[in-house]
Amino acid sequence: MPTLVIVGAQWGDEAKGKLVDVLGSQANLVVRFAGGNNAGHTVIAKGKEFKFHLIPAGILHKNTKALLGSGMVVCPKGLLEEWDRTLAQQSELGELIISSAAHVVFPYHRMLDSLEEEARGDNKIGTTTRGIGPAYQDKVARIGIRMSEFVDKIRFPIRLKAVLEVKNSYLAQFGKEPLSYDDVLAEYSAYADRIRPFVRDTEPMVAEAVEAGEKVLLEGAQGTFLDLDSGTYPYVTSSHPVAGGACLGTGIGPRHIDSVLGVCKTYTTRVGGGPFPTELDNELGDHIRTIGKEFGTTTGRGRRIGWLDLVALRHACRLNSLSGLVVTRLDILSNFETIQVAVKYRLDGAEIDYVPSDVDVLSRVEPVYQELPGWEGDLRSARKVEDLPREARAYLDFMAEFTKTPVAIISVGPDREETIIANENLIWGE
Ligand code: GDP
Ligand code: IMO
Ligand code: MG
Repeated sequence: MPTLVIVGAQWGDEAKGKLVDVLGSQANLVVRFAGGNNAGHTVIAKGKEFKFHLIPAGILHKNTKALLGSGMVVCPKGLLEEWDRTLAQQSELGELIISSAAHVVFPYHRMLDSLEEEARGDNKIGTTTRGIGPAYQDKVARIGIRMSEFVDKIRFPIRLKAVLEVKNSYLAQFGKEPLSYDDVLAEYSAYADRIRPFVRDTEPMVAEAVEAGEKVLLEGAQGTFLDLDSGTYPYVTSSHPVAGGACLGTGIGPRHIDSVLGVCKTYTTRVGGGPFPTELDNELGDHIRTIGKEFGTTTGRGRRIGWLDLVALRHACRLNSLSGLVVTRLDILSNFETIQVAVKYRLDGAEIDYVPSDVDVLSRVEPVYQELPGWEGDLRSARKVEDLPREARAYLDFMAEFTKTPVAIISVGPDREETIIANENLIWGE
């Protein structure tokens, strides 16, 4: 029963997309389990760059089924644009399937996302304004419209009418004109006509694949510290990017998860507001942003940069019960004389070795760094651990030892090929 979960072990953009593409070639089924088009997953293959926001990154393998799981919130317009764009880039793709239980993102969600952000003033979360929070709010309030209703020609107009009344009264509180029922219905009915053939009850299908011993890969979005419960609340997303979310968002029970890989960079990035203990808000941070081309895949915003935070990474290993680490962007840390890693925090004069859950407390901690030797050279042609400089290997060993989690895969460049499998046995948990 090889079922593998891939999660982000930091604040997102760790290169989950690249990993899902690399391992997706071995998988029968790839299921995205959380979030919506707030995600931006990049794959570089055969000289082409693909950017996925909703479609699982496994879609590029023609024998793979790519599912949008029940834990997702799906913008139909965004999905269709992405599908058309991907088909134009590569004509042969895997099979696209959408869970009938996934929720639909409507224009009022996007409007409310921006309006609510505006109203937060100085306390902005820095959301992607894709309507993700408001769509999950409707899900929890039990007024969301799911895919099964969306593609039902009889039920959709009735449900939309009822929900739009509620949403228009909320928009009026922000001084906004009501959305026209006829316009939204006409536009979204056209999307529903195109999406209908892809919508299915996916849980039985996933269960059968698991029972048949097929390779099932569960693709996470965002990252551990953006999790609604485990992240730096309220500077989080509205879903569950942690490994537990993979069960919730696909319908697989926890006993059927065989392996969990956590993707992390050799340093740290974050987009949006919220505490970031190892942040380098200085020239060094600017330098890493430039050489690492650290700009958001979805919004184009410059990512905040910091040294590797091992206190946080160890916490992520525990929260996700990681089987192994996937360490990315080792190439970017080349040519630094020394590299700092946070091994403790200082809080009010005392040292602590855990991540406080309250953001006010977390924003007061100061990292305690350990200095490690850097290395030189272009690592992008390395294909085996032995090809790496000794200091780079020592850096990876330090990460593994500190977090008590072995390194399974190392990424030395954005391309599919720029990958080192360090420990094959950790991947599918077989
Ligand atoms: P995701 O959201 O976790 O899938 O990550 P993103 O795609 O948003 O951001 C990762 C970025 O890093 C993309 O531009 C990738 O092409 C790039 N990338 C992935 N792995 C590596 C690597 O090992 N080295 C370098 N330099 N870039 C990488
Ligand atoms: P991938 O899958 C990085 C961040 C936003 C903001 C917070 C809430 O590409 O790693 P939201 O729009 O979700 O309500 O925004 O979460 N965020 C991400 N940051 N990578 C992502 O996805 C993100 N998805 C959301 O910047 O701080
Ligand atoms: Mg991303």
